[in-house]
Amino acid sequence: MRINVNDQVYISEISTEDKEDYIEHFKERKIFENTLAIPFPYGDREADWWINAVQEETRRFGTPLNLAIRTTEGQLIGGIGLMSMTSRNDHAAEIGYWLAKSYWNKGIMTNCIKKFCKWVFKESGFEIVRIQARVFANNEASTKVLLKAGFEPEGYMRKRFFKEGNYIDARLYALIR
Ligand SMILES: CC(C)(COP(=O)(O)OP(=O)(O)OC[C@H]1O[C@@H](n2cnc3c(N)ncnc32)[C@H](O)[C@@H]1OP(=O)(O)O)[C@@H](O)C(=O)NCCC(=O)NCCS
Repeated sequence: MRINVNDQVYISEISTEDKEDYIEHFKERKIFENTLAIPFPYGDREADWWINAVQEETRRFGTPLNLAIRTTEGQLIGGIGLMSMTSRNDHAAEIGYWLAKSYWNKGIMTNCIKKFCKWVFKESGFEIVRIQARVFANNEASTKVLLKAGFEPEGYMRKRFFKEGNYIDARLYALIR
């Protein structure tokens, strides 16, 4: 499957050939600091685990939930996907995303989120009517991206996450079909 985003990037399935790109991009600690599920440091073992988990999940759901963001040359520069889904019949899901640092602040993720959510609602075959996002309160870039992509704020969660010895406040956003 392929989701065309614009003339810079497209979204498609993750493959075993993406391993080296994951390892390279996740050398950037800021990606780890702003997310919950990406380990640091990130090496062979972590990349193998992730690519295998995505392939198993795709088999189980019959449709990929986690996808690669690629340049027009096909190089992986980011990721976007649905988390916390338990079955194909779920009506709500949570979005997660990251982009390689050298591509930040060019509007790429805003466009990816818009196109990805449209695909989820209209083409994926899932019955999802709600996509939510939980963002660390100090992650200004991610907050801006969600608002630009049409998500609406639903609340502020104090000490919602615990990471590296600290409790972290989070903001909740959602997009409704
Ligand atoms: C969050 C992330 C995906 C954004 O991707 P991106 O392609 O750079 O986003 P966009 O370019 O579409 O939009 C970023 C917006 O945030 C703004 N921004 C960036 N850093 C900012 C800061 N420190 N304070 C305020 N605004 C900021 C940019 O100016 C831009 O807004 P604008 O279009 O009004 O100028 C990227 O920064 C990233 O991968 N971060 C690390 C992982 C992460 O945080 N994932 C999300 C977890 S919820």
